[in-house]
Amino acid sequence: MYDFGLVGLGVMGRNFILNVADNGFTAFGNDLDAEKVNALIEEGGDKAKVNATSDVKTFVDGLSTPRKIMLLVPAGKIVDSVIEGLLPHLDKGDIIIDGGNSFFTDTDRREAYLKDKGINFFGAGVSGGAEGARKGPSIMPGGSRDAYQHVKPVFEAVSAKYKGEPCVAYLGPKSAGNYVKMVHNGIEYGLMQLTSEIYDLLKKAGGLSNEELHQTFAEWNQGRLQSFLVEITSEIFEQKDDLTDNDLVDMILDKAKQKGTGKWTSQNAMDLGIPVPTIDVAVSMREISALKEERIQADELYDRPTPAAVDKEEFVSKAEQALYFAFIITYAQGMHQLADASKEYGYELELGEIAKIWRAGCIIRAALLADITEAYQADEALRNLLLSPSFVEKVKDTVDAARELVGYGAANGIPLPGISNALTYFDAYTSSRLPLNLIQAQRDYFGSHTYERLDREGIFHTEWENK
Ligand code: 6PG
Repeated sequence: MYDFGLVGLGVMGRNFILNVADNGFTAFGNDLDAEKVNALIEEGGDKAKVNATSDVKTFVDGLSTPRKIMLLVPAGKIVDSVIEGLLPHLDKGDIIIDGGNSFFTDTDRREAYLKDKGINFFGAGVSGGAEGARKGPSIMPGGSRDAYQHVKPVFEAVSAKYKGEPCVAYLGPKSAGNYVKMVHNGIEYGLMQLTSEIYDLLKKAGGLSNEELHQTFAEWNQGRLQSFLVEITSEIFEQKDDLTDNDLVDMILDKAKQKGTGKWTSQNAMDLGIPVPTIDVAVSMREISALKEERIQADELYDRPTPAAVDKEEFVSKAEQALYFAFIITYAQGMHQLADASKEYGYELELGEIAKIWRAGCIIRAALLADITEAYQADEALRNLLLSPSFVEKVKDTVDAARELVGYGAANGIPLPGISNALTYFDAYTSSRLPLNLIQAQRDYFGSHTYERLDREGIFHTEWENK
């Protein structure tokens, strides 16, 4: 009998199951594709430790109870059909874990459906890509706390470790795990957009070559910006193209694809009434990037200023500060969304725990997450990172560089929607008085929508004199 089952032996699934086997658990894989089954058997070596089959009944019967079956299949209808295929063979108390990027309401639906049948269902976000799955991902499980006890030893063993601590924790009931992973991806979109804007500035205004960009990002990765995304960015600039003599980055089409998780984060933030403008604009920029043909046409119609000369060294230093500032703001927005979603959906999320399991293994891992963890550990009820005393100096030290670069971008025709949105969010969030009193006046003027007052309680309406 195998300890752990895994359905879906694509790259992620194969790597995850080999990771499980490496950590002393026996594992059984399942995939309809015989080639994938054979590939795993071959790579796994010892069949007593890791084996695979295309037959669902053989697979389920080969697992010790309560069965722990993880699905690493594409989100959507496939998850439902895999569940239907497993169901006739399962026993009450068995556990199914969906490790894909499923939409959180799908997870709630599946959990309720399976609960009726006595099956425990987990939505567990898994981050870290193929390499993470093999060597240690960050895992974000949500579902029944009791059932999690059966899964915990495996997840703790296979997950990434931050100074010895596993990057996995039970996050909350229902779809808490998928929700947290969705927001992780929203933050991922934001950080990627910001990095691309800094690249644009350094290249167009700073005149940095790819080699210099490589060195700059590598250096930044040794400091407070240390993160997976900064690290891989540095490596990307070094890559030569196989097909031409150029650097690969210069040959890649500037149209970014998306599978939807960033968009879901943004959409849901709107539903909750939580502002996450840096994430919103990161999604919009992928959409603008897709309009390549129109962009080419429009480029012909409008002039663009030639970027003004800058002091290279100083510009690079400002870019580092602005990126750090905007990274903080992006995490702040994502964490703020999690805090509100937790109340709205009854997830009982502990934000300090979430920041903690993001410190290693996942795509948004960064030195900053150790500071974010501490900020939430110091105050679990923290409404926004910007309100944490430990972040005030970090922000104060770097915001002026963001102002300068945003001004430079606007004057010189370099689009910086992520950095400027981060700055605008900061300026608005830290303003005790915004001009939205005028919007209230307008609403009352044309639609008698009423308003509240600064000086007394109640709801007011005015018969506007010149109407
Ligand atoms: C991760 C990633 C991963 C995501 C990809 C692609 O945490 O390992 O978030 O889950 O699927 O990054 O996302 P897009 O195709 O939407 O960019």
